Amino acid sequence: MRAAIASRAPAMRRTTSPARVRDAVARWRAGGKAVAFVPTMGAIHAGHLSLVVRARGTGRRVVASIFVNPLQFGPGEDFGRYPRPIARDRRLLAAAGVDLLWEPRAGDLYPDGHRTRVRVPGLDEVLEGASRPGHFEGVTTVVLKLLDVVTPDVLWLGQKDAQQAVVLERMVRDLLLPVAVKRAPTVREPDGLALSSRNAYLSPAERAQAVALCRGLEAARESLEAGERSAAGVKRRVRAVWRGFPLVREDYVAVVDARTLAPVRDTRGARRLLVAVAAAVGPARLIDNLEWSPR
Ligand code: PAF
Repeated sequence: MRAAIASRAPAMRRTTSPARVRDAVARWRAGGKAVAFVPTMGAIHAGHLSLVVRARGTGRRVVASIFVNPLQFGPGEDFGRYPRPIARDRRLLAAAGVDLLWEPRAGDLYPDGHRTRVRVPGLDEVLEGASRPGHFEGVTTVVLKLLDVVTPDVLWLGQKDAQQAVVLERMVRDLLLPVAVKRAPTVREPDGLALSSRNAYLSPAERAQAVALCRGLEAARESLEAGERSAAGVKRRVRAVWRGFPLVREDYVAVVDARTLAPVRDTRGARRLLVAVAAAVGPARLIDNLEWSPR
């Protein structure tokens, strides 16, 4: 009993104040603790929790944030209806071992008259950036602000948003930010659907068809493993699978270099390939991807 009490993690603290976040991190640092950071927009699922568990590592303090960032949503996108189950989110993050939850107020991150933006040209206007103009400018701008307050040693991101990770890794390198960026693998439902807060928008019929994204990627992997050299051939395999899922409307199927996001024609032409897909399934816009290295 005594051991159980002694080993129990201290309760998660939470704040809206950037100054309190800075203070907590400064105290941990002074005590020799490294700090890991998991930024989120809430609607927490097992994918976020896997980031927290990895972030804890050995003896690391974990800061998580919940902020539905208006700057990364385009006009007509789902900012207004994005799920915000805050009480549940807090419970889940506390149970997973977050030490400090920062819930910034919009006015603190975007003070009156704010104008400054961060962009990563060449990476932020392709794929998701082409379909959602300005999206990554919103992501990079807010993540730089979050990093500036939290000053973590490690930033944890999910592979599900592979392009976001590429863009943020580039930003961190370009701006000489003293933080290591780590990616955790995509967490999937038992049938393969990648976890996403937007899966909540799906009706049962749409949910059944949403597996098209991962089924298409499985077909892409099979074709690559069977020696398919042409990116066009890989894309054809994905689309052939999708034809069996009439509720799935393609946005894009792309085969790119996983580091530069440049389109690839010959699948042996890159050290690491990213097969990235996006589709609308009913009201939800879903993305998924597969990384693959030619041997
Ligand atoms: O991946 C997300 O949830 C968001 O894009 C992020 C990184 C928290 C920035 O708002």
